[in-house]
Amino acid sequence: MENQAYDELARVEDTHWYHESRRRLLEYYLDSVKDALPSCAQILDVGCGTGGMLNVLEKYGDITGLEISEYALSLLLKKHPSAKIKIGSANDLDNIFKGQAFDLATFFNVLYHKWIADDVQVLKKAADIVKPGGFIVLNEPAYGFLYRDNDKICFGARRYTKTGIRDILTKAGFRIVKITYFNSLSFLPLVAITALQRSGLIRFKSASNELRRPHRVVNELLKFIMSCELAIIKIFGSMPFGVSVFVLAEKVS
Ligand SMILES: C[S@@+](CC[C@H](N)C(=O)[O-])C[C@H]1O[C@@H](n2cnc3c(N)ncnc32)[C@H](O)[C@@H]1O
Repeated sequence: MENQAYDELARVEDTHWYHESRRRLLEYYLDSVKDALPSCAQILDVGCGTGGMLNVLEKYGDITGLEISEYALSLLLKKHPSAKIKIGSANDLDNIFKGQAFDLATFFNVLYHKWIADDVQVLKKAADIVKPGGFIVLNEPAYGFLYRDNDKICFGARRYTKTGIRDILTKAGFRIVKITYFNSLSFLPLVAITALQRSGLIRFKSASNELRRPHRVVNELLKFIMSCELAIIKIFGSMPFGVSVFVLAEKVS
């Protein structure tokens, strides 16, 4: 990713409605398996970026962040000076963490990235370093038909469906515990933006076009709407559509 995309991420991730809602969903997922995690769980956040999920993850254990971009890590360290981080690629998970075992591995918008050579292989390597009965959480962009300028700017190579994620996690040795589409709010606007971009009517050249935080009042309103989505997920188990897939899976013993 370009440095400008990391700058934008670092600037908005603590307060932006999307990031805030994603943290609430993560908390809901992790609370549901809290009793199965040891009191100081060993957690690996793969592709931790500028550290937007660390504040939630640290409630559940001791985190190690893995990130390929030195620039992203420099921004992360400004916000979390004592974070435990490693520079390296998810493609080498097996070598980097040889002999180590984690209770939880997380990938937030990482597997879709073009710097991931083979997503199934990376998940297999993740399975090798997650303890039997341990967990993995993935949050990845949904639906190939939503592939647009922002994916290119953020170096996205692929998008997923619930079925696709279920298949690759199962192949890698995980059992799905919870899975849902997430961020239904953005679905129709992004269908429209994608159609306009594909027809050549608009072009986004910078990550800030989509990552930008809206006005404070709008941001609060969108957070409220997303809290309604979370309530639906809690009651019905999943959303039928959304622009991301969010999944919690258990490593099969
Ligand atoms: C869209 S950002 C998401 C950052 C963070 N996980 C979040 O959700 O806020 C994708 C991150 O994955 C990192 N990344 C991409 N490919 C990687 C790889 N092969 N190994 C490690 N990190 C990678 C990028 O550098 C970037 O920080």
